Amino acid sequence: MPQRVRIVEVGPRDGLQNEPTQVPTAAKIELIDRLSATGLQTIEATSFVSPKWVPQLADAAEVYAGIDRRPGVAYPVLVPNLQGYERARAVGATEVAVFTAASEAFNRRNTNAGIDESLERFAPVLERARADGVQVRGYVSTVLGCPYQGEVPLADVVRVARALHAMGCYEVSLGDTIGVGTPGKARAMLRAVAAEVPMPALAVHFHDTWGQALANVLACLEEGVAVVDSAVAGAGGCPYAKGASGNVASEDVVYMLHGLGIETGVDLERLAVTGRWLAGLLGRETGSKAGKALAAA
Ligand code: HMG
Ligand code: MG
Repeated sequence: MPQRVRIVEVGPRDGLQNEPTQVPTAAKIELIDRLSATGLQTIEATSFVSPKWVPQLADAAEVYAGIDRRPGVAYPVLVPNLQGYERARAVGATEVAVFTAASEAFNRRNTNAGIDESLERFAPVLERARADGVQVRGYVSTVLGCPYQGEVPLADVVRVARALHAMGCYEVSLGDTIGVGTPGKARAMLRAVAAEVPMPALAVHFHDTWGQALANVLACLEEGVAVVDSAVAGAGGCPYAKGASGNVASEDVVYMLHGLGIETGVDLERLAVTGRWLAGLLGRETGSKAGKALAAA
């Protein structure tokens, strides 16, 4: 297992993108600023996708411009195409993430494009990013199952992950978008991808629909992955993935990692306070068990 894990906090993006009620821009900014004070190194701030497709994040530019960017913290943003990249660059983003899927059916619903077509869309983004000195992360969705296609062959996951890495993505995040995976399958998937893409360039991204996310993270740590995506308060979901629920909660991941003697640099208490604050803002209980336990302690 790794000695240190980098958490990629996706709460402000994945956590909020599926919220039906509009979250005020100022609250999104406050969320990111609070997260910046917890010791997290990477906070995915927002998403420059089409505001027609994801109205909740239509204020991406205002959010990005409003946050207090701490030295040493990276604030990547999602971009689906060159237009998104240009919007992100206009407000000074220095790291972006492109996203596609291992399932053709899901990718069409999510981005109105086939997998290969989406990879073609990314080519000019990566070219521009290289010239601008911008880091690009890549996401592969539906790595352990698709709400429209069902089973997703491992070979498809490997092919897409390899393509993103070969294009110049410094890191490829493997997403169980609908949270159907179990530890044995997660391990086998990661092992297959790691045979083609070096482990230090891989991250895992689990949604917790079936309650397997933390177990899946552990199985992948045992395989050697050292980057884990998670969302404070267990927020999250994709509007174009039927039945998807929240991400694995960052507080739960950090609690488990520290218990295993793995460093994260994150102040769990501060993170949990932020998670409960966010849950209050969204009018529900925190989705983090550790967050609840810490409040009761
Ligand atoms: P499209 O409708 O095919 O786009 O959408 P288009 O290129 O034909 O353009 C149509 C209109 O959209 C035009 O405007 C464009 O200007 C505009 P009009 O002329 O009609 O007024 N447009 C844009 N506006 C602002 N920013 C842009 C942009 N691009 C086009 N970047 C598109 C294609 C990809 C844009 C759309 O399908 C889209 O935005 N999809 C995003 C869906 C999404 O955000 N899903 C959630 C994120 S992925 C996820 O959650 C999974 C992940 O967490 C990992 C996991 O869990 O698996 C990452
Ligand atoms: Mg996700």
